[in-house]
Amino acid sequence: MKIFITGASSGIGKALALEYAKRYNNNDTSIGLVARRSEHLHKLQELLEKSYQVKCEIYPLDVRNSAALALAANDFMQKHGTPDVVIANAGVSRGTLTEHVEDIVAFQAIMDINVLGLVHTFQPFIAAMRQVKRGQLVGVASVAGIRGLPGAGAYSASKAAAISYLESLRVEMARNNICVTTIAPGYIRTAMTDVNQYKMPFLMDATVFAHKFANAVENKRRFIVIPWQMGWVARFMRLIPPFLWDFAMKKAPHKKRLDWDWL
Ligand SMILES: NC(=O)c1ccc[n+]([C@@H]2O[C@H](COP(=O)([O-])OP(=O)(O)OC[C@H]3O[C@@H](n4cnc5c(N)ncnc54)[C@H](OP(=O)(O)O)[C@@H]3O)[C@@H](O)[C@H]2O)c1
Repeated sequence: MKIFITGASSGIGKALALEYAKRYNNNDTSIGLVARRSEHLHKLQELLEKSYQVKCEIYPLDVRNSAALALAANDFMQKHGTPDVVIANAGVSRGTLTEHVEDIVAFQAIMDINVLGLVHTFQPFIAAMRQVKRGQLVGVASVAGIRGLPGAGAYSASKAAAISYLESLRVEMARNNICVTTIAPGYIRTAMTDVNQYKMPFLMDATVFAHKFANAVENKRRFIVIPWQMGWVARFMRLIPPFLWDFAMKKAPHKKRLDWDWL
């Protein structure tokens, strides 16, 4: 099994790397890990190789850099062959308000990382997957992409774009026998949600989530919300007419606007 994962230095991506190492615990398994914080990737590589005997490559880079991702993808394929699964999971979330000029830079970063990051991750693998006529591209969206959440315009818009983009890609790839899976997480306990000071319904542990995620990938699901309870919430959200949505969201909690040194 060969897997390539972005956003692997923490949270969901790290939990996925561990889940895949446990699931395919042998010498034939190779995992490629991408994120910016190289010290986190080094630690994870050591753990995966020592405790699970899998082969592990790390690529400290920014998913906004398409050339860096292409180099990483080619290096991984040269060493291990065409991956079975590529997971574009890297993402950021911050509160944004259009009325603040300083938030424009945050809008740009969130769209670049959460949307173009998917394109940059998948693009270098498609020709190779086409040639072998197999492979799976997995994109991480969010329930926040189903409707516009107040105070999170950039994040909601980026995840709505991710959902539509992944659907286009799914249809485009079908004739090459390449599957595309969209995973829309509800609330998962990671650094991204640790900062939220409001109640998060059906909050799920990242390890439990990663197990369900890998099952969904194995079953070649087209679109899935995890946890399933949030799936019903998402279905309901889609049906609510705009005037009712506005009413329901009037007092909704806003995600914090923070300093932009994380960019
Ligand atoms: N947690 C939730 O409840 C939840 C809900 C819905 C969707 N999601 C989505 O799940 C994905 C993972 O989030 P998480 O909850 O695991 O948050 P997290 O713990 O903050 O992890 C985010 C990961 O993305 C990486 N990343 C961020 N910007 C990057 C960039 N420019 N280039 C390369 N890597 C980058 C981070 O690594 P570096 O900082 O080291 O680069 C980190 O590994 C995101 O796409 C998020 O939108 C999460």
